[in-house]
Amino acid sequence: MRNYIIEDLPHYYEQYKKSIKNPKKFWDGIADKNFVWYQRWNKVVKYDMDKAKITWFKNAKLNITKNCLDRHLSIRGEKTAIIWEPNDPQEKSQHISYSELYRRVNKTANVLKEMGIKKGDRVCIYLPMIPELAVVMLACAKLGAVHSVIFAGFSAAAVASRVNDCGAKMMITSDGSYRGSKILDLKSIIDEALEQCQTVEHVLVVKRTDNKVNMQEGRDFWMEGLFEKTSADFVTQIMDAEDPLFILYTSGSTGKPKGMLHTCAGYMVYTGYTFKNVFNYQENDVYWCTADIGWITGHSYILYGPLINGATTVIFEGIPTYPEPDRFWEIIEKHKVTQFYTAPTAIRSLAKESADWVDKHDLSSLRVIGSVGEPINDEAWHWFNDHVGRKKCPIVDTWWQTETGGIMISPIPFVTPTKPTYATLPLPGVQPVLMDDKRNEITGNQVTGNLCIRFPWPGIARTIWGDHQRYKETYFTAFPGKYFTGDGALRDEVGYYRITGRVDDVVIVSGHNLGTAPIEDSINEHPAVAESAIVGFPHDIKGSALYGFVILKESGESRQKENLKKEINQLISDQIGPIAKLDKIQFVSGLPKTRSGKIMRRILRKIAEGDLSNFGDISTLLNPEIVEEIKIERI
Ligand code: WT7
Repeated sequence: MRNYIIEDLPHYYEQYKKSIKNPKKFWDGIADKNFVWYQRWNKVVKYDMDKAKITWFKNAKLNITKNCLDRHLSIRGEKTAIIWEPNDPQEKSQHISYSELYRRVNKTANVLKEMGIKKGDRVCIYLPMIPELAVVMLACAKLGAVHSVIFAGFSAAAVASRVNDCGAKMMITSDGSYRGSKILDLKSIIDEALEQCQTVEHVLVVKRTDNKVNMQEGRDFWMEGLFEKTSADFVTQIMDAEDPLFILYTSGSTGKPKGMLHTCAGYMVYTGYTFKNVFNYQENDVYWCTADIGWITGHSYILYGPLINGATTVIFEGIPTYPEPDRFWEIIEKHKVTQFYTAPTAIRSLAKESADWVDKHDLSSLRVIGSVGEPINDEAWHWFNDHVGRKKCPIVDTWWQTETGGIMISPIPFVTPTKPTYATLPLPGVQPVLMDDKRNEITGNQVTGNLCIRFPWPGIARTIWGDHQRYKETYFTAFPGKYFTGDGALRDEVGYYRITGRVDDVVIVSGHNLGTAPIEDSINEHPAVAESAIVGFPHDIKGSALYGFVILKESGESRQKENLKKEINQLISDQIGPIAKLDKIQFVSGLPKTRSGKIMRRILRKIAEGDLSNFGDISTLLNPEIVEEIKIERI
């Protein structure tokens, strides 16, 4: 990133001011100097926040893979692009160079093309953290197909709803997945899901575990066999700036997941720029982000951001505690990792183990460490700082969302003085504002409010696939003229931001964004359940966990109720995935409701949190007596 590396605090403020005063000029300069284009844009940005219409780099022509691969070949063709670290430390890790990655992407793009995939077609991907996952995503991008990666922990029903929503023509999966000591049978989940899907013509299966799988004649093919046969030359598809690059689903406040659509040029510019600055990436660094590629963190900061910058990026297949709770620290030592980016939930769970597990490893290669996904509490921040960063590495607490495409608020390492639990300052081009519930902007410092963004940035998702109205309503109507994040934030005396958590019906469990509505919908399908309400409550390791208040059609005996709890969690597990299971289930005879029939979740949240002191005004409730009952029987 020539000319746009932020060097010190005065330089940050200078860049920031320029980016706000003249965003067009700022992003024009970044896009022009740091990327390869077939054709430049004729308008940097055009937007209408009321209609939720945003375009960046209009009429530019490009392909993101030219920037991730081709342009590196002559200068760093033999440099390692991907270090793949398998689940089992006994298995050899792989180093894949830029030229080898380029070759595999070309061959795979040919496989997809021969299977009838064309520009604009949707391809769903359900794979473990293996190199093929990166390869197929890049192959889609090279060909112009829209990838939609579905996290390989989602259930068959959750997969089916996503496949049907985007009308995918192809599914790419594997015979299985290693997770610690377990083997997950991904292919049979896909078989079950596809029973409910009409649009998928072909399933490509990558070999990983040698599990026996069922292959449906004419529909299912082994990737390996096709890959071997195809040519290593592929003509890159020329994409328009606003052509779709990928769809990634995130939960929302209604049952249906939201297919956030990211487009080619803006996403590329934003992830490229933010990766370079937030991680202070230097040419010989080894960067590692522990997220799964099935989430936006993996898309932007395992794959695209690092490769755009010609980085070496680690892909880890396994889990932090297998075979022992020092797997992360062992990998850092083994590959001499320089940037380590992980989630508070992982930090908290590893901090529970003896400090010897981490202290015995040589982590001196580390220069920058980072956190993402949920607010990091003070204790976890200090443990991370003391034991992993050894008080020498700045912690970048990065706030952003699936919808934002890239990091929005974060310290710049060696530039922004950090402050525990604070995401600190907005990156250049990002204009946070705090709004009160009456839609007034809250100015000044030492204030809290609803976090909105005033001006579009290149990485913002452009729509919800197939439902622009919902996009507009979810993000641009609560605070007209602004993008509403769904988070609350505090601005301290020097203007640093601290994210205080969701202000809507989304709960972040172990860094996974879970809408409570879809979980309620699935519980309510149980024949014994009349109604339910789910809220989050603080949890030592997961950050937040889920508490369900459930009304049964008929009240049963206690043994029956214990069974029901298991059945309810099984149902959630089948319909959404095990991550959405409830930690606590309380059967109640009613839920506190307003006269208009809305559940007063504020009260349920307080009960779940164990704060039974002051419920505020409950006089507007239709059934105020229920509060006492729920309170007494709380778990
Ligand atoms: C929500 C977005 C962005 C990648 C992973 C999550 C919460 C994210 C932080 C942070 C406090 C954070 C917010 C946000 N969040 N990063 N550093 N501090 N909260 O993406 O699944 O779209 O979830 O995660 O509540 O709105 P996501």
